[in-house]
Amino acid sequence: METVRGTTSLVGLLGWPVSHSLSPNMHNAAFKQLGLDWAYVPFPVRPTDLPKALKGLMALNVKGVNVTVPHKQAVMRYMDEVSKAAQTIGAVNTIYLKEGKFVGYNTDSTGFLNSLIEAECHPKGLRVAVLGAGGAARAVVFALTWAEVDSVVVLNRTAERAAFLIDDLIDTFPGSTLHFAPLTESSVVALKDSFDLVINTTSVGMYPHVDDCLWPKNIPMPSTAAYCDLVYNPLETVFLARAKMAGAKTIDGLGMLIHQGAAALELWTGKTAPADVMRQACLAGLLNRPVRQ
Ligand code: ATR
Repeated sequence: METVRGTTSLVGLLGWPVSHSLSPNMHNAAFKQLGLDWAYVPFPVRPTDLPKALKGLMALNVKGVNVTVPHKQAVMRYMDEVSKAAQTIGAVNTIYLKEGKFVGYNTDSTGFLNSLIEAECHPKGLRVAVLGAGGAARAVVFALTWAEVDSVVVLNRTAERAAFLIDDLIDTFPGSTLHFAPLTESSVVALKDSFDLVINTTSVGMYPHVDDCLWPKNIPMPSTAAYCDLVYNPLETVFLARAKMAGAKTIDGLGMLIHQGAAALELWTGKTAPADVMRQACLAGLLNRPVRQ
């Protein structure tokens, strides 16, 4: 967006806080590239103000919003329609305000899959370990199962939460092989050689706690697996740095951010999103961030 005019269509981001977000950078760069008279703005919305904020979006004729922490689950009850994927995942990260209705989607799952494919990691038939069982893990396990991986083991500090995640997904994908285990040194030792892909879906290793890593310190990371981290600040987390040192393939978290945004932009505008321009805008935004020295 170069100039906001009387004709400009508005989209944005609902979250609390939102000041750290790279989404305005990447969406506005994409609109400019596409020559669209659209603008993307951050909306900092306290949890208690969520219903009022949603009504306001409709009244102001906002075309759509992304939804981030802490609203991804809370917005669901205000939607008129929710996509099947978002229902199964249990979270909405993109809303399309369509003809007076709130339509909720989850583009995190397609964004994640597209980021794997972009990194030439094709999930079909892979044996996958997912570290974490929170909201991000739910979108990732949904995507992997939809993409017909061989199996998924969800490893989580709180094992019951991993069990709930699997219980929720198994109805949608009854034939799939989904297991869970506690995220302990002994389970990592026991399972580590049986994975083709290991994904950190937690925020462990994110700035400012950049020295943290979920993979146990003294356990080598098999180089036969690929390692993916959803954290993108820093781009190379300790988890990925250790995998790289071991000679393994690594996939950083920027791809998922870009591709979930690209999928949202395509829903709102009907245009093909310029993923490369969005990546450059994110990288430029990250340069201005405090990261590990
Ligand atoms: P998000 O929606 O971003 O996934 P979340 O729903 O709060 O966030 O989930 C955070 C995930 O990171 C959980 O799997 C959490 O483990 P618990 O279920 O045991 O809480 C995991 N997590 C966060 N900090 C962690 C840490 N220091 N060690 C291990 N797991 C951690």
